Amino acid sequence: MSKTSWTKIEEILAGKKTDQTVSLRGWIYRTRSSGNIVFIVMRDVTGIIQATVKKGNLADSEFDDAKKALIESSVELKGVAKEDKRAPGGYELQITDFKVVNFAEPFPISKDQSPEFLLDKRHLWIRSQKLTSVFKIRSTVVGAIHKFFRDNGYYEFDAPVLQPNQCEGGSTLFEVKYYDSKTFLSQSWQLYAEAAVFSLEKIYNMGPTFRAEKSKTSRHLSEFWMAEMEAAWMDLGEITEVAKDEVRFILKEVLKNNKHDLEILGQDTKKLEKIASSEFPTITYTQAIEILNEKAKQNVEWGKDLRTIEEDKLMEHFSTPVVVTNYPLEIMAFYKPKDPKDPKTALCFDMIAPEGYGEIIGGSQRSIDVKEMTKRLEEMGEKVENYEWYFDLRRFGSVPHSGYGVGVERVVAWICGIDNIKDAIPFPRTILRFRP
Ligand code: 4AD
Ligand code: MG
Repeated sequence: MSKTSWTKIEEILAGKKTDQTVSLRGWIYRTRSSGNIVFIVMRDVTGIIQATVKKGNLADSEFDDAKKALIESSVELKGVAKEDKRAPGGYELQITDFKVVNFAEPFPISKDQSPEFLLDKRHLWIRSQKLTSVFKIRSTVVGAIHKFFRDNGYYEFDAPVLQPNQCEGGSTLFEVKYYDSKTFLSQSWQLYAEAAVFSLEKIYNMGPTFRAEKSKTSRHLSEFWMAEMEAAWMDLGEITEVAKDEVRFILKEVLKNNKHDLEILGQDTKKLEKIASSEFPTITYTQAIEILNEKAKQNVEWGKDLRTIEEDKLMEHFSTPVVVTNYPLEIMAFYKPKDPKDPKTALCFDMIAPEGYGEIIGGSQRSIDVKEMTKRLEEMGEKVENYEWYFDLRRFGSVPHSGYGVGVERVVAWICGIDNIKDAIPFPRTILRFRP
């Protein structure tokens, strides 16, 4: 076993290794040579650095390898770290040992390739600087969500992925052959979470979620990760405050851990800092319609769901996320209860992100009225007997309870400022693609 102590590029860029001999391993990011000198830009998980390979400073065979090695070849290098104002990052390596671990074949990805080609080559494209930064931020977002709930007294609780019921409407269910029968992939953790709040009281989960979305938008995936919470005794007002705290916490964690990644992505960190310490307004759907029709000069009828275009027009009037409550009851999922103070509407909310990122959270108080839910399910053509287990939850010590789900990729896309949700997940699945 080698006893080499490996240096990370960020240590050199932070000036911690100046004039020292260091060993590094990574991949060739760029390379060019002229005569007896090869300029290599090398990357590892922490960054990129220029390495200068001069004939005479190392064995001739190693110099030849350096000259020959194409981008994405994996390498182990040894050299002296020098400050050099002209080099990217202000430092460069003067190479004395150049070992190629794997000579890469000509890399199929070059500049200006179509998004579809990049998706075909996704297994290679995820090495790009942009996606590396996105997935570092995604990792922070996921960690922040776990931390937020655990620090606030929530238990992590798991639900089945194979579920016999719909939660968010039958039209987007993925059917799965289940031995001689059929079942569906989870559209939400929620219904099973509702069974658990009568013992664990406050729970959360983050897991893969499936929707056969027929639309090709920059906001919809067929497989995405949803982070959900459910809590006994909480009402709509309380969970909207939890949701606001959660989003601010996620932002703060990303700002603490990923400033450099946000810069690589060209994101304005000052703007995000401001949002992370702002109050987010709460308005009703009815007020949203008023803003749309009066300030945004739209013509939206009360009762219509807010589509992408309406959400975007509405958000031109806000610079932080906004909570919109009390959508029309008729267009809502069967479990959302009527608001006794405004019976045309439901006790539900969406949180909408600024700058065209749309709905990032959906949630509600949960109906405790079995008769009303039965009626709604029948209207949807559902087999009500499949929901008997769910109705039992209202028959044995039911209490008011509420919950919501965060679209992890929507939050990542918004924080990163990327224009398509597909880049917020490593291997996107959409109506047009489930490969590689
Ligand atoms: O609003 P939704 O459909 O709510 C639910 O599923 C509830 N059962 C959650 C709950 O109360 N526990 O989905 C929640 C969030 C949306 O706000 C959106 O951010 C995201 O999940 N989402 C999607 N993200 C990517 N692609 C899709 N096809 C998505 N559908 C929903
Ligand atoms: Mg929704």
